Amino acid sequence: MEPQARRILVINGKGGCGKTTIATNLAVAYAAKGMEVALVDNDPQASSTYWGEQRASDLPPVHVVRAHERSNMYQTQTYHNRVAPETERIIVDGHSSARDRDLEDLLKQADVILVPLLPSSIDIRAGGLFIANLLTHRAFRSAPRPVGVIANRVQPNTDTHAKLMHFLGCLDVPAVATFRDSPIYSDAIEVGQGIVDMRDCRAARKETVAWRALVDWIEDQPPSICNTSQSLRQRPKAAGRHRSNKNSASA
Ligand SMILES: Nc1ncnc2c1ncn2[C@@H]1O[C@H](COP(=O)(O)OP(=O)(O)OP(=O)(O)O)[C@@H](O)[C@H]1O
Ligand SMILES: [Mg+2]
Repeated sequence: MEPQARRILVINGKGGCGKTTIATNLAVAYAAKGMEVALVDNDPQASSTYWGEQRASDLPPVHVVRAHERSNMYQTQTYHNRVAPETERIIVDGHSSARDRDLEDLLKQADVILVPLLPSSIDIRAGGLFIANLLTHRAFRSAPRPVGVIANRVQPNTDTHAKLMHFLGCLDVPAVATFRDSPIYSDAIEVGQGIVDMRDCRAARKETVAWRALVDWIEDQPPSICNTSQSLRQRPKAAGRHRSNKNSASA
C-alpha cells in the first residue's frame, strides 16, 4: 500500500519572516533521514524553486513542485496529484499574500501548520493577527489541525527575544522551535542546502539540534483524520466535471 504523505504547511501573512528558510531546511531535515520529500513552492517569487535549482545532486534529494505556476487564474493550488506516489512528507512553502480561496486551499491540504515569527514588534503584531485569523478560518474550524509557532531569527538573551517569548507564552498555540539569527541560513539558501547538510560547519551543527527537535514535534502529532493526500489521490473524479468549468480546475 502506498505510504501516506504528511503535509506540513509553512505560512504567515507577514513577508520575510522565514517561510522559505523554514520550508527548505525542514525538507532537508527529512531528506537527511532518508525520507522521500517534496517541497511545494507556492510563492510566485519562486524562492524554493531557485533553492532547489542550486541543490547539488549528491545531497539527499528534495523534489521541488512548482505549484506557483498556474495556467489560468481559476486553477487552484491543489498539489496532491503532482507529487510522486512514494512521497512521505510534503513541505509547503506558503506565500504571504495567500487570501480567500488560495488560503482556504492551502489550509485544507495541511496536516500540520507551522507559523514562523520574527521578534520585532511589527512582526509580533502581524503574526498575532495572522494566527487569530487562522484559528477562526472556516477551513481550520471545520477540521482543526496542529499549529506550531516558530521563533525565527532569535538573538538569545536580548530584550526582543524576551518580548517574543512573552508573546508566545500568551498564545493559544504552542511555540515549537526557536532558530537563531545566523548568516549560516542565507549561506545555506545560496547553495541549495539546509543546516542539516552543513556538517563541516560548527554553527550549523549546533543549530541542527533545533531542527531535529522540530521534526520530532511534527512526527509526534496525531495523523490528520481527513483529507490525507492518499485519500485525495485515490478519490475518483466527479462525473461530468470539465476543466473548462472554473470550479473544477486544479494545479
Ligand atoms: N534564522 C535566520 N537567520 C538569519 N537570516 C535568516 C533566518 N531566517 C531567514 N533569514 C533571512 O531572512 C530573509 C527572509 O527569509 P525568507 O525568504 O525565508 O522569508 P519568507 O517568509 O519566505 O519571505 P517572503 O514572504 O518574501 O516569501 C532571507 O534573506 C533569509 O536568508
Ligand atoms: Mg518565501
